[in-house]
Amino acid sequence: MNPIYDQHKRPLRDLRISVTDRCNFRCSYCMPEEIFGPDFAFLPTSQILSFEEIERLVKIFVSFGVKKIRITGGEPLMRRDLPVLVKKIRAIQGVEDIAMTTNGSLLKKYAKPLAEAGLDRVSVSLDSLEEERFANMNGHRGKVKNVLAGIEAAAEAGLYVKINMVVQKGKNVEDILPMATFFKEKQHILRFIEYMDVGNSNGWRMDDVFSKKEIIREVEKLSPVKAAAPNYQGEVASRFRYEDGNGEVGVISSVSDSFCGNCSRARVSAEGKLYTCLFATEGTDLRSLIRSELSDEDVAKAIASVWEKRTDRYSDERSEETIKRRKKSKIEMSHIGG
Ligand code: GTP
Ligand code: 5AD
Ligand code: SF4
Ligand code: SF4
Repeated sequence: MNPIYDQHKRPLRDLRISVTDRCNFRCSYCMPEEIFGPDFAFLPTSQILSFEEIERLVKIFVSFGVKKIRITGGEPLMRRDLPVLVKKIRAIQGVEDIAMTTNGSLLKKYAKPLAEAGLDRVSVSLDSLEEERFANMNGHRGKVKNVLAGIEAAAEAGLYVKINMVVQKGKNVEDILPMATFFKEKQHILRFIEYMDVGNSNGWRMDDVFSKKEIIREVEKLSPVKAAAPNYQGEVASRFRYEDGNGEVGVISSVSDSFCGNCSRARVSAEGKLYTCLFATEGTDLRSLIRSELSDEDVAKAIASVWEKRTDRYSDERSEETIKRRKKSKIEMSHIGG
């Protein structure tokens, strides 16, 4: 193993791989219908990494000490035969944890084959338990009922399940309490995500952010919570345990309380670009490297040189000035992976 560190001495530990830029939802904060409409040009298949190419890249990242792999999208389950990829990743020595971030709509069908292929965990996105508000947030594509069925199937298949809820003022603040109540009962960890200024399409405004502090105040209407230590260095969510000893919630507070100091995540898009920050404006084309005659060692050297130059701290530095500077030039979340 050959660990590498960036300019702020942060190691490369986690790899998040997007397997498709497509999604069957149109969440207003991610792929708003007005922009991702019928004419939107998604990546053609020829430009998307094959499972063999992804497998090769994962092996190279593992040589740097990466142990956690997360499959993202778009919606990863839009990619055919995903269990085949999971099986390939599972077979790589050094991989300890394989997770997937999904909207849950297709999980009922795929949970079992994914678990059998070796997937450990899923983070399922769900923003409301109320059909109409959920529909308003996902572009009238998804049903709460189906996502809940997906969550249930995942738990039954033995996958460890967490729930992610993006909180947006004026959209679903009233859902915090019912969501907390429901998932405390179901014993799944619910994480609230502050609405972020990712991409250029969602019309983000600071005024629409409901902060970590405000979220916790809502949760405490259900039951008091106490801050808990992170499970691992660099955990994105801050943890809060219910004082009654029955469960916990998390808050991902990229806006009100950022966490770049420990950020050890690299992202590879479906077309094989390497991004060192969720708010990046450009990536490094790994696809052309792996489609050339270069050896694994040469590709590893190229990745190391990108990581060793890395200075990203977008959320720590977020200000009117930095927001303006990156206006219109950030990569979309559905492209970079969540
Ligand atoms: P665990 O391994 O379970 O801790 O997973 P995770 O929380 O890292 O992964 P998940 O995909 O569930 O993350 C939830 C959401 O947090 C993502 O979809 C993003 O919206 C946000 N997020 C994850 N990583 C970062 C990051 O590095 N920076 C920022 N700003 N947001 C992040
Ligand atoms: N702000 C916060 N979270 C977002 N996600 C997508 N776009 C945003 C945004 N603008 C979340 C989704 C999902 C994961 C892929 O990222 O809800 O949980
Ligand atoms: Fe699709 Fe997830 Fe983006 Fe919603 S947040 S549009 S489900 S990729
Ligand atoms: Fe990492 Fe960029 Fe998120 Fe900061 S903003 S935690 S550097 S991905």
